[in-house]
Amino acid sequence: MCGIVGYVGDKNAQDFLISGLKRLEYRGYDSAGIVTLADKGDVTLLRAKGKIANLEEKLAKNKRKDSIGVGHTRWATHGEPSEANAHPHRAGDIYLVHNGIIENYKELKGTLKGHEFKSETDTEVLVALINSFYKDGKYSLVDAVVQALKLVKGTYGIAVVSSKKPDEIVVARSGSPLIIGVGNGETLIASDASALVGHTKRAIYLNDGEVALVKKDSIEVKTLNAEPVSAKVEEIETNLSAIQKGGFEHFMLKEIMEQPDSLAETLRGRIDAKNARVHLGGPGLSEAELRKIKHLVIVGCGTAYHAGLLAGYYIEQFTPEITIETVIASEYRYRSAYIPKDSVALIVSQSGETADTLACLREIKKQGIKTIGIVNAIGSTIAREVDGGTYVHVGPEISVASTKAFTSQVIAMVMFGLTIAQAKGVKPGILKPYIDEIDKMPKAIEETLDSLSKKIKEISKKYKDYEHSIYLGRDIAYPTSMEGALKLKEVSYIDANAYAFGELKHGPLALVDDRFFEMVLLPKGALYDKAVSNIQEVLARGGHVIVMTNADNFDLPVENIIKIPTDIEIFVPILMNIISQLFAYYMTVAKGLNVDQPRNLAKSVTVE
Ligand code: AGP
Repeated sequence: MCGIVGYVGDKNAQDFLISGLKRLEYRGYDSAGIVTLADKGDVTLLRAKGKIANLEEKLAKNKRKDSIGVGHTRWATHGEPSEANAHPHRAGDIYLVHNGIIENYKELKGTLKGHEFKSETDTEVLVALINSFYKDGKYSLVDAVVQALKLVKGTYGIAVVSSKKPDEIVVARSGSPLIIGVGNGETLIASDASALVGHTKRAIYLNDGEVALVKKDSIEVKTLNAEPVSAKVEEIETNLSAIQKGGFEHFMLKEIMEQPDSLAETLRGRIDAKNARVHLGGPGLSEAELRKIKHLVIVGCGTAYHAGLLAGYYIEQFTPEITIETVIASEYRYRSAYIPKDSVALIVSQSGETADTLACLREIKKQGIKTIGIVNAIGSTIAREVDGGTYVHVGPEISVASTKAFTSQVIAMVMFGLTIAQAKGVKPGILKPYIDEIDKMPKAIEETLDSLSKKIKEISKKYKDYEHSIYLGRDIAYPTSMEGALKLKEVSYIDANAYAFGELKHGPLALVDDRFFEMVLLPKGALYDKAVSNIQEVLARGGHVIVMTNADNFDLPVENIIKIPTDIEIFVPILMNIISQLFAYYMTVAKGLNVDQPRNLAKSVTVE
């Protein structure tokens, strides 16, 4: 998604803006720009299509010592990726950068006859609207911003400067994150805390409907109705090493490889294997409230949705009379689904900023349903709007493809399910196998990574020229297959779809030919034999089959077998997903693609 940075202080603004935008590159973008101000109205506006390196080429010829400015990386929504559509956008003496979508921009544009539009963007309408209040001097910059935002429908995170006042930045947000970094004699702006790391550990997370006038040594927050806000200064938990590659070639590989540690962080203080108990404080539900739960709605998008599906399969195994519905946020938010009163909604989101998931959360809250966040990004919008929650604590996930977050989201939701089961008096003997295995998972993941990475890399190279693939699994291996297919398609651009193995003969089997390879997730267990029969159906049609399994006796003549050396049984799909992650990663690197920033995608989809 787009990225915003801003600086006002005594240091060189261009340096911070460029380094800050580089920290936000992982969010996905297709153009970038910065503007810095000096006294007497001197402005340096630089914009470029494509990567930040193109912007740096322009910067090399336009070095300034200015100490105030704003910058932006744009992921195109209105108007193609181009220099003309890149932010900052200008109207008169005002320059603005914007994340989000102004839904009524066409209507507003019609009222701005005096402005000569140079782009196709909704953002330029916003800066022209602000200028319509600012240009004749009737309103200060912050008041002109307030007047304009009162007319806006849609979402925004903005930073605005004026060449007339090269010592102040106005910021505002509604539906798109905006963070104010509190420095010593300087103030920094960012849409994502990672841009602030190493500059300050103190930040103010603006809330929806708030506007702030920031200077190098003052920050004044108020609502759009001019009510003063006593903003809370919070600590930024991220550190530099968490947002750097640490010797890995790509963030995706780093984040796959750090899953033993990141899952351990998720479990810290929450799992008591000795006494077969889990202790989840975050949801904030009393024992009585937990006992009353009859229905779980699990909401997410993409990987978060798949994590919810898999967690749901587990939770129903050990919680009596609870129905579980896992839904896609972008669908559910528009349905008129009735949610029973004795329900709880789990809102799953790594970034905590996904627009559809956030909108779903707000719709569900209107029905008076308790909402519990399963979120990674501390202080994110979803994390602050849910009634309670469990941070998964995996640290920043930089690569667009979500990996370590999935593993921890599944386990965190299972721990929430165990918390319900404990409150409902489910026998410890039933819960103990789940708790024991969860406790062992960090080590099991480490063993899988250590023993199989090389083999997976070799196998992936053999399949890199295929254009199509099918992922297959039954029961808990089915949602895991969906996640594996998503991982492959989103980084390697190979067409990959997952099917419940039992569904194959109801249609998808017609696909099987030499254009496809089949990735089969084959856990030991009650459905093992049925799945083996399904593999035979695929082989009989000339399928190019790869099987990953923890079974010792699998011996069908498939092209490749990935044997998982583990005594984990219940959560073996988590280990299978680690294999899928590595398979997708190595395949993509073998194809020479940009694995951390796949085309067309963004890390956090803060627009609908
Ligand atoms: C997963 O690899 C994708 N990057 C994408 O599907 C992602 O999971 C989805 O956009 C949800 O993001 P969130 O967890 O930040 O809400």
